[in-house]
Amino acid sequence: MLASSASPVGATGPAGLIGIEGRVGVSKPDPIVVADGIVRRFGGVTAVSVDHLEFQRGAITALIGPNGAGKTTFFNLLSCFDQPQEGSWSFNGTPLRGVAPHKVARMGLIRTFQLTKVLSKMTVLENMRLGATGQRGERFFAGFARSLWSRQEQEITGRADELLERFKMHHMREQFAGQMSGGQRKLLEMARALMTSPELVMLDEPMAGVNPALKQSLLGHVKSLRDEGRTVIFVEHDMDMVFDISDWVVVMAEGRVIAEGTPEQIGQNQAVIDAYLGTNHDKELDGDMGNTTPGGPSDE
Ligand SMILES: Nc1ncnc2c1ncn2[C@@H]1O[C@H](COP(=O)(O)OP(=O)(O)OP(=O)(O)O)[C@@H](O)[C@H]1O
Ligand SMILES: [Mg+2]
Repeated sequence: MLASSASPVGATGPAGLIGIEGRVGVSKPDPIVVADGIVRRFGGVTAVSVDHLEFQRGAITALIGPNGAGKTTFFNLLSCFDQPQEGSWSFNGTPLRGVAPHKVARMGLIRTFQLTKVLSKMTVLENMRLGATGQRGERFFAGFARSLWSRQEQEITGRADELLERFKMHHMREQFAGQMSGGQRKLLEMARALMTSPELVMLDEPMAGVNPALKQSLLGHVKSLRDEGRTVIFVEHDMDMVFDISDWVVVMAEGRVIAEGTPEQIGQNQAVIDAYLGTNHDKELDGDMGNTTPGGPSDE
């Protein structure tokens, strides 16, 4: 179990969050990621301004907030796909500012994208094998695919097949990813993220465009990541998912963290209700709160 490598200082996983005060910036007993003073501006827009935030190791943390709140930008910063103007953050105590995303991946932090980055002209299996390289650009992927040598190829293919079995996608192994539904591509992206057996998995809207049947299996997969001792941070507008599987919820609005706490605490938080009602007058907080993501019909 990955959890066994945890710091002895505090309780790891969801148990460590029991009794922790739901207050912005609150310390966690065993944080895997710590962010301080992060500011990301695009021209005159401050997309992210986070003073202090800790993510508990071995827990499932949801990052929620209205459209444009800065969730994806914050993910991009933490995973080093983007650089802030100010601030510092660490993963397992290692400062990440200025580190290349593929090195971050090698350290055990893997993220998926709001708009999936599976390569449609490659097969499902080829996409999986590329996951073994970590978070690289597409040109690197293509070169890598051509230059795979046999022993490594066998190992990587074995791992890919295991994960495809686990995600019940093995029958699609030779299909082009472009032929899959949006929901299946989300599932493929999550499976691919696990090729390097990451310690922290960051999922940006894993449920967007996924049909109800596939949602249930996605939920199960996310829970099983936690059961294996991995840490999960996910961005999601689907409040059923947030309340069902999260141990902790962080709420962003206009670039700032406006609340954090257990799902129960967050569901009753007036600032959270106001943030959502500000953009989403007709939605119930305990229903499909904030699901204003444009387009993207659910896949058939
Ligand atoms: N590359 C960019 N250039 C300019 N502005 C950007 C860029 N990326 C994000 N922004 C702006 O930063 C703000 C935060 O955007 P972000 O995509 O992080 O929000 P989000 O919370 O992920 O929203 P959603 O729920 O719709 O995915 C928005 O005002 C957005 O327009
Ligand atoms: Mg986003």
